[in-house]
Amino acid sequence: MILGLESSCDETAASVVSPDLRILSHVVYSQVADHQAFGGVVPEIASRCHVEVFPDVVENAMGDAGVTWSELTGIAVTRGPGLATSLLTGLTMAKALSARCRCPVVGVNHLDGHLASIRLSMSGPARTVRHPVLILLVSGGHTCLVLESAPGAWKLIGRTLDDAAGEALDKGAKLMGLSYPGGPAIQKAAEGAKPADLPFPRGLTGRSGPSKESGGLDRSFCFSFSGLKTSLMYHLRAHPEELHPDRIPSLAAAYQQAVVDTLMDRFERAADAFQPASIGCAGGVARNRLLRERLEAHGERCGLPLYLTEPVFCTDNAAMIAAAAVLSGDMGSVEPADLEIDPSLAVGQR
Ligand code: KG4
Ligand code: ZN
Repeated sequence: MILGLESSCDETAASVVSPDLRILSHVVYSQVADHQAFGGVVPEIASRCHVEVFPDVVENAMGDAGVTWSELTGIAVTRGPGLATSLLTGLTMAKALSARCRCPVVGVNHLDGHLASIRLSMSGPARTVRHPVLILLVSGGHTCLVLESAPGAWKLIGRTLDDAAGEALDKGAKLMGLSYPGGPAIQKAAEGAKPADLPFPRGLTGRSGPSKESGGLDRSFCFSFSGLKTSLMYHLRAHPEELHPDRIPSLAAAYQQAVVDTLMDRFERAADAFQPASIGCAGGVARNRLLRERLEAHGERCGLPLYLTEPVFCTDNAAMIAAAAVLSGDMGSVEPADLEIDPSLAVGQR
């Protein structure tokens, strides 16, 4: 039985997961309400909030799972990337609990957690993934394409060269006067609306192939969202009347469509090039209805099994952190004193 802990940003989460990745408990305290007035996450508020709620979140996760401290075989905790002071609260909690129950602690890369989440099921056994699987990881902080050849073994194929998809949605929502987080707000505003006919850019233009700025990755599989946000900004400057409540739905729909078109364009190119046996999508933006529909259509068209992360496991949670630790096969050491946070832990590092 593995206790997962997650506190890299503005969710405080704990979850107990079995070695075959069944979810025994899943507790997430979302701080959205604490940050909403500021239009984004305030690091000082986030870390203070983690400290305040972590004890209850952990007790509830253990209680819901019906597992005793002596039954725990390991504690998996996010050690990066994320906000330094938020990560520290989780690691400190993990070290303290490890001293209490004498079980090992393993540090997990938050991105490995999102990648593991495609398997998780709230109500049944974990899904068995057919490899190789092409995974689109889309969150507030990261956007990348990964080809996983075996559980826990994958290589990076593409990534964003500037903003993440979630970041583009959050910033776009702010410009449109919608609430934080922007992704769900844009989806809600766009519901049922016909996208405005606006020339929003669809990601990178120019040549394909590896480049210095893409870190040697083929630019055909890389993303760019900063131009989209800037384009919305200029559009609103030139046409302030577009901010009228009657106009927002079609504007939000056009913006959402540009983000999803960009993601799908790179995803489909990568699928053509790498011919995976299956496809998947994870991260907060994977909750987006339009993106899910487009991925479903692609899976059907190509006859590929699709692992769409269940909505509860898309946004940050601790079940995915415990799952990543299980998949890595590394349950850490009983002496976790040397384990440290790494706020800028790179993709692929443990
Ligand atoms: O994975 P996550 O919880 O945190 C990070 O690791 O970054 O993702 C948060 C992101 C935010 O940018 C939020 O706007 C976006 O996920 N998001 C959505 C939706 N729900 C959350 N984006 C689009 N549509 C949604 N329904
Ligand atoms: Zn995340």
